[in-house]
Amino acid sequence: MEFKIKWSGKSIEYTEEEINAVVGVMRNGDPQTQGKYLQQFEADFSKYLQGQPCFGVTNATHALELIADLIDLKPGDEVIIPGHTYCASAIPFARKGVKIIWADLDPDTFLVNKEIIEKLITNRTKAIVVVHLYGMIIPDIENISNLAKSYNIKLVEDCAQALGAVLNGKPVGTFGDFAAYSFHGQKNITTLGEGGILTLKDLNLVKLIPGLRHNGHAPFQNKTEYWKPAMSNVDLDMAGIWPHNFSLTEAQAALGSVLLKRLDSLTKLRRNRANRFRESFNDFPELKFQRIDKEESHSHHLLAVKFIGKNNKNRDDLISLLSKKFGIQAIVQYYPLYRYDLFKKMNLSDADCPEVDNFFDNMISLPFHIWLSDIDFDYMIESVQKAILELRS
Ligand SMILES: Cc1ncc(COP(=O)(O)O)c(C=O)c1O
Repeated sequence: MEFKIKWSGKSIEYTEEEINAVVGVMRNGDPQTQGKYLQQFEADFSKYLQGQPCFGVTNATHALELIADLIDLKPGDEVIIPGHTYCASAIPFARKGVKIIWADLDPDTFLVNKEIIEKLITNRTKAIVVVHLYGMIIPDIENISNLAKSYNIKLVEDCAQALGAVLNGKPVGTFGDFAAYSFHGQKNITTLGEGGILTLKDLNLVKLIPGLRHNGHAPFQNKTEYWKPAMSNVDLDMAGIWPHNFSLTEAQAALGSVLLKRLDSLTKLRRNRANRFRESFNDFPELKFQRIDKEESHSHHLLAVKFIGKNNKNRDDLISLLSKKFGIQAIVQYYPLYRYDLFKKMNLSDADCPEVDNFFDNMISLPFHIWLSDIDFDYMIESVQKAILELRS
């Protein structure tokens, strides 16, 4: 089927300054990895996070892999993870052989909340993973953070979709013990299609990350000659953990520093568009949007709504009409993780998440690209209005 407006597509359009940052790294003879641009990007990101230490990595999934290592998860430990999220929120923890306890969602925010999580805590709970899905910081993240502290449980924030969101003056990712950000091609900013940042609070763990991220390279103590016994040692001060190579390249890091300067204006653009869309449906009770308590807490990565159809019309009727009559490709996401074949094969299909199931069966995710022209965006608004009116009649 040919779509006029596709759900996925190109990433943001790079500015000349951003292109020059990449070409600059290509032109100079400096190392293309593990160099000054990575250090600069980490410093810039850390400044954005109000001083929290940051490490550039290949992607958010790998940031979560490192976090799972740092939490020192063992088979038999329990980790609470939302049932409604992208699979990479869970796979790095599942790899450790832990039992995943799937969390339901709050039908008003489409996210987890403190009450949902609290009920799932047992004396085996080692970590809670929260996901600021669709770009919105979980409204009671501060309560969840206090809850985790009171039980001495690690709190991990998956911020893959939410860079740009701020709650009570604090950027997303500064509420928990650890956080992961993504610069994948479809994310709010992208470093050439892949990229990520890991941030954490515990300064004792911070020391471990350069080695954990890069094959355990560490200096030898008491060297007598620079080449003896070898240029560098391979070691890691973590029992039972093997290191990885998850390094972000210099070109990606240089680009990341320039993109960060544009983050606020990109977020504003997304927010204005999302507000325009939402206001256009004030008289359409069929569409239920995420409840937003504080405007700046949402970076509007995606535009997800729940469709409550009249006359027995459902979400599938709306998607079908939008695609066939108006050429608009809306999709459904995210398949509840416990329903995926892989999670079933791995014995992680036990879940009691009625709201996740209900939301998945009734949600639609509309194309929401920052590069859509105003004309195309208006066309989408009008088309969704027309489609709903047609389904009403
Ligand atoms: C919620 C969430 N978590 C994690 C990831 C993984 O990010 P990456 O592609 O950078 O590994 C994504 C990417 O789509 C995501 O949406």
